[in-house]
Order: sequence, then structure tokens, then C-alpha cells
Amino acid sequence: MIIRPMSTTDLEAVVGIEASCAAGTWTPAMFQSEMTAPGRTWLVAEHDDHVVGFGGIMVVGREAHVMDLAVDPAARERGVARTLVWELAEAAVAAGATRMTLEVRPSNDAARALYASCGFDVRGRRPGYYPETGEDALILWSRPLPATLEAMRAARAGRELILAIETSCDETAASVMRGGSEELASVVATQVDFHARFGGVVPEIASRKHTEAIVGVVDEALERAGVRVADLHAIAVTHGPGLVGALVVGVAYAKGLALATDLPLVGVNHLEGHIYAARLQEPDLAPPLVALVVSGGHTMLVKVMDWGRYEVLGKTLDDAAGEAFDKVAKLLGLGYPGGPVISRLAAEGDAAAIDFPRAMLRSGDLDFSLSGLKTAVIQYVERERSAGRELAVPDIAASFQAAVVDVQIAKAVEAAVATEARAVVLAGGVAANPALREGLRRALEHRGIRLSVPPMGLCTDNASMIAAAAHDRLAGGYVLGLSADAVPGLRLGGVSRV
Ligand code: KG4
Ligand code: ZN
Repeated sequence: MIIRPMSTTDLEAVVGIEASCAAGTWTPAMFQSEMTAPGRTWLVAEHDDHVVGFGGIMVVGREAHVMDLAVDPAARERGVARTLVWELAEAAVAAGATRMTLEVRPSNDAARALYASCGFDVRGRRPGYYPETGEDALILWSRPLPATLEAMRAARAGRELILAIETSCDETAASVMRGGSEELASVVATQVDFHARFGGVVPEIASRKHTEAIVGVVDEALERAGVRVADLHAIAVTHGPGLVGALVVGVAYAKGLALATDLPLVGVNHLEGHIYAARLQEPDLAPPLVALVVSGGHTMLVKVMDWGRYEVLGKTLDDAAGEAFDKVAKLLGLGYPGGPVISRLAAEGDAAAIDFPRAMLRSGDLDFSLSGLKTAVIQYVERERSAGRELAVPDIAASFQAAVVDVQIAKAVEAAVATEARAVVLAGGVAANPALREGLRRALEHRGIRLSVPPMGLCTDNASMIAAAAHDRLAGGYVLGLSADAVPGLRLGGVSRV
């Protein structure tokens, strides 16, 4: 795709695209006079000798007004509009503007999603702006363009400095990274001890502890990296999924810093971060991949078509794998978190001692269910106790672990084979489990598929994985505005390519 100035010979195609968009109101004569008017830049996007999109701005002083921007419906989802936005931004800055503004219909979801992911905020409303329908217009404003464009250039050249912040669960983390792979500092302050006596993460405590820790954690990351805030190109933050009260601490801090510095704000999906952890370890890791993300909060199989493009193949219908480990450990009085202690005890036990159910092993899909297994363990323990028998804790641990791991391995292999993945990425805190790692490695080796497991420090929650994902987001032109919020249910996949 190439971007070039619009000329009169493009008018027919441009008017055609304009007409095919529901909102199209421009006539050929309007385009004609616009193209030659002072302060204007009109660009077209061309693909295979066809005009597939266009856009224009009018620069007045330090403001660039986006007059119109449209993409051929047949060429959507290929990043044409996003490319046009940033090319217009370059033209705006060259003409002396520092921000862009535009009007959009409140009902135009695609346009709103595009501009929201280019860092535009809704800053006002023009009542009855659209004469045909009487609909109001929302007035959008961009963040400061020069800093955003410089950050994108730096990211594309692999030299950007990003400060990333992660507070989605019970780790307050900050990382300073250059070029998406060179870790200058990574600080993780865990709250695990504060949650231990409750046998799980208590959201209110998580939120309070993040608030207490965030300033110190960020300062320490910058200090260790030898980097000043003024050296940074962008601020990245996990904006979902996770505990809302925990996420908002990182998001509010990152927004404050972005506002104070005028730097772009990059939002990262926490699960995407877990997948990128593998690329930090193995830079040559190339899609198509399958990722098994297993943590205290998630259990899912994800197809990575490309970095940034995902499809969720399956997920747990109830408990997450780590949660099952934690609940069983609590039942056995083993403390929190349960995973490490159970896997240690399992090494001394007999995995065949108790026949716990392998839920959904042959369900024909790639979903998981773990709550039935947890119930089976509870019932087993109650039976043994009421019979007055002493619990063979290592055997219970080993048999429970085998029941979890067998299904995880079977489904991960099934997913990898079905999608012809080149490698499987094991990510999240449960990746620490030796039985899962080794079992999966063997099962894949067998089929000539590589297994990639990040080192432990990258498997559990950290901000370097967020910085790695943020690098690609920034290079791809994805930034957030300052009205962005934490999205506790943020989904992976269907990443908008408008
Ligand atoms: O990714 P993570 O650090 O935090 C979340 O985002 O949840 O994962 C923590 C989870 C806990 O549930 C913990 O019990 C589990 O990972 N875990 C393990 C092991 N080590 C940690 N589960 C099984 N075996 C382990 N060795
Ligand atoms: Zn996590």
C-alpha cells in the first residue's frame, strides 16, 4: 500500500468510496475545491493500482482539522485508515500543527474505535451537527502529535525507550525497555504475603497495596535503568483484563505520567503480555503459534496468527488452572500460593494413586473445566477423613496434578496440530509446574513441534512482557487517549485493524 497526495484523476474513485460509506456527504465539486484550498493536505491510499482510501486535513495555526477520511468497505481491516491517520498527522506536524481534531457521529462505532485506538479523546459535542439526520457530532482531539509520531518512528527503528506498568493482579511491576527486547530494568513488588492468609487474592487489599507501591516501583525501575522520564518515548500500561481496582491504579498512574510529559500512552492486554514473554526469551519465535496461557486467573488456548492477531481457541468454563491448585492447597492446609507446594509434594507422590476425573478430555473442543476436579478432591478428602484414614498428601497432590496436566497437554497438542503451529508457547504462573512443562515438551517433541517456555521471572506477572507487547502496539500505531479506562474484561483476539 502506498500513500500519496490526492490528484484530480483520483476524484472518481474518491467519490465512489465516499458514496459507499453510510456517512458520505461530499460531492465531487467539494473535493475539487478542497484540494486546492490553502492549508489543506489530501492523501489517498493506493493498493494494487486502486485507490482504497483517502483523507484530508485543514491546518489552522496549531490545529489540524480532519475534514474527511474514508476507506473502501472492501479494503477494511487492513490498517488503511490507521495508516492514513498517521500520515495525515505527519502532514499536520509538517504544517506546524501539534494536534488533530475531528467530528464523528456517536453511532459510528468503527470510526470511534479507530480514533480511540489512535489516542483521540472525546472532548465535546456539537448538537444537531449532521443536517440530514439532526444527529449530534462528537468532537475528538488527538494527544500531542509530535511526541506520538517520534515514539512511533523510534519503535519502528527498534530504539524506543518504554516505561511499562503492570498492576492487573497482585504484582506491582514496572519495566524500562529499549526496542521491545532490551530490558534495562524490571522491578516486581509482590503482595503475595498479604494475600496468603486469606488463601487467595483479596481485591481490596490488592488495590491498596498497588497504591502504596506504585511510585516506589516506577522510580526504582527508572533509577536502575539509569533513565530519566525525559528520555522516555512512551508510557505503557496493562489496561485489562484483571481486577478492576488493581488495574485502575496502574492506568491512573500511567495516564498521569503521560499527561505530565505529553508522551503517548500504550495500552496492553495482560494476556498478550504473557505471550510476548516467550518472544523476549526466544527472539526468533515466529507465528503461527499456539499459546497455552495458564495462571491464577486464566486458562486459555490462543492461536497467534501473527504478533498482535489472536484467536481464542478455548478457555476454562469455570476455574483457572492456578486457581484449582490454590483451592486444593487451601483444602489440604498447604498455604498460598498452592501451585509451588503442590508440585513439590507431587514429586514424592504416586500420580496413579487416585483416579481423579480428566474433565472434558474428549469434549471435542478446546475448552477446559476444572471445578469438577476440585469437587472430586474435596469429596475424596472428606471420605478419607470420615473413614478415619490419614491423608496421603503427596499422593493426592500427584494425582490431582496429573489430572490437571493431562488435559492441558492433550488440548495444547490438539490445538497445535489442528492449527499447524510451528511452536507452542507455555505462559503464565502455572508454567512453573515441572510436570506440565516436561509432559508438554515430550508430547510436542514427538510431533516435531517446538515448546517455548519463558524463564520463571517472565512467566509470572511482570512489566517487561508488557513493554515487549507495547513495542509492537506502538510501532503499529496503536495508542490510547487520556480518557481510556481500565477494562477488567478486556478480550484477546478480534484486535481491531480498522
Ligand atoms: O501468572 P501468575 O503469577 O498470576 C496470575 O496472573 O494469576 O500465576 C499465579 C498462579 C497461582 O495460582 C499459582 O498457584 C500458580 O500460578 N503456580 C503454579 C506453580 N507455581 C505457581 N501452579 C502449578 N504448579 C506450580 N509449580
Ligand atoms: Zn498474569
